[in-house]
Amino acid sequence: MNIDIFLQNLKKHGIENEIPNISEVNARFLRDLIKIQKTQNMLEIGTANWYSAINFALELKNTWGKLTTIEFSKLSYDSALENFKTAWVSENIHAINGNALDIIPALEEKYDFVFIDGMKRRTKDFLELVWNKVSDGGIIIVDDVIKFKEKMIWFWEYLEDNKIQYNIIPIDKDDGIVMIIK
Ligand SMILES: C[S@@+](CC[C@H](N)C(=O)[O-])C[C@H]1O[C@@H](n2cnc3c(N)ncnc32)[C@H](O)[C@@H]1O
Repeated sequence: MNIDIFLQNLKKHGIENEIPNISEVNARFLRDLIKIQKTQNMLEIGTANWYSAINFALELKNTWGKLTTIEFSKLSYDSALENFKTAWVSENIHAINGNALDIIPALEEKYDFVFIDGMKRRTKDFLELVWNKVSDGGIIIVDDVIKFKEKMIWFWEYLEDNKIQYNIIPIDKDDGIVMIIK
């Protein structure tokens, strides 16, 4: 199997079925971050059909790292279980079917890279819950911060109130990400 074609098809399937996957440009950028950081332990909030998760896991194979990814839709979770088996990344993905708001407090590990891509209105809650689980110098990326800016009012307030430094990166023509280095 050609993994690039597999990912292109998965992305195409996402577009056809209106699944809000990260763009191919964003996937490339985030994979490069994993490569540069030599990420060991990554957490993703919002798996959907695993397009981002498989991209991350493929890169994490090279850094000997692993990904924990959380998705609360049983339908999305089940529909894509085959995808990650097909992409030969099952060994370095730990997939959890549940609400990240309940799951994160129970996570006992530290993460050096967190990708927040769940329900936009809860972005502040995800960040607040995950903060103490991110190692010093760790990377936190929040997706869709331009397109859904107004759904994230509490997130922007939280950054302001806690004097958290961040960069907004307009990653592609469609949208941008926030990058926080803890
Ligand atoms: C934007 S999509 C994720 C896209 C995926 N990261 C990708 O790029 O391929 C958001 C996903 O987050 C899930 N989600 C939203 N809120 C969640 C929560 N509180 N806990 C777990 N999953 C959540 C939704 O069901 C949806 O599948």
